[in-house]
Amino acid sequence: MHLPNPLMLAAGILGISHSLFKRVAEAGAGAVVTKSIGLHPRQGYPNPTIVGVESGFINAMGLPNPGAKEFAKEINKSKDIKLPLIASIFGETPEEFSEVACIVEEAGAVAIELNVSCPHAEKVGAVIGQDPNLTSKVVKKVKSSVEIPIFVKLPPLVTDIREIAIISEKSGADALTVINTIRAMSIDIETGRPILSNKIGGLSGPAIKPIAVRCVFEVYEKVKIPVIGVGGITNWKDAIEFFMAGASAVQIGTAIAIKGLSVFQEIKEGLRSYLNKNDYKNYMELVGIAHRN
Ligand code: FUM
Repeated sequence: MHLPNPLMLAAGILGISHSLFKRVAEAGAGAVVTKSIGLHPRQGYPNPTIVGVESGFINAMGLPNPGAKEFAKEINKSKDIKLPLIASIFGETPEEFSEVACIVEEAGAVAIELNVSCPHAEKVGAVIGQDPNLTSKVVKKVKSSVEIPIFVKLPPLVTDIREIAIISEKSGADALTVINTIRAMSIDIETGRPILSNKIGGLSGPAIKPIAVRCVFEVYEKVKIPVIGVGGITNWKDAIEFFMAGASAVQIGTAIAIKGLSVFQEIKEGLRSYLNKNDYKNYMELVGIAHRN
């Protein structure tokens, strides 16, 4: 898969309609990952669904989406956007994942990101990604149902992320997205109640960056397929750190809420000057260099 540049829009941020995919493309992203889509329409949790905390956000949207068939129309319309469109999908069972995968492939998605790592939704998400056997079944089923590449988005809260990475690769994953958000909560001290309606959500942003870098570093050592880094990338220095840990592309999410869509251009320019200043021909020369002895 060729990306015009290694900066992708992360799942869950703006990736919900043709007009937003277009805005993200115009802002200079190298690929767009959609909001996670399931087989059936899903309302999500009531508000509040997001809260700002020190160095990031905690969100628990509850995987709201219009269902795969309805969303396929947005993917279909997006053929005018000259950028790889990757559909993030979720499901309760391998069969459900496979059904959604076929719908988004047919609509024109160029790859699929399996969301087996949402940290707070019941029956879907991290309950799958934390179970190596179940993850393997989902990956194998989707792999046998579609022809486009499959990424698996891994959960960080596991005893050893390398184990899930290895089993995903063996089951047919073409790339790994490392990591999803981390279970967290925030309490309103005036009311004594959790702020989010779901009480627990997923922490994203600069607060999780060192954890994400460590996960990318560990996973890179164990697999041959590409690793896509995500978690708190807010500036070009963060992106370089992820490349050095082993990521061959990165996803940007929370930084858009902090800096706006101009963050793509800002990171690209910073990266370009760093490469020129240090005599690198291409950012790929940075990938994995933190593993040198
Ligand atoms: O609540 C949500 O929709 C979040 C999904 C995720 O973190 O994967």
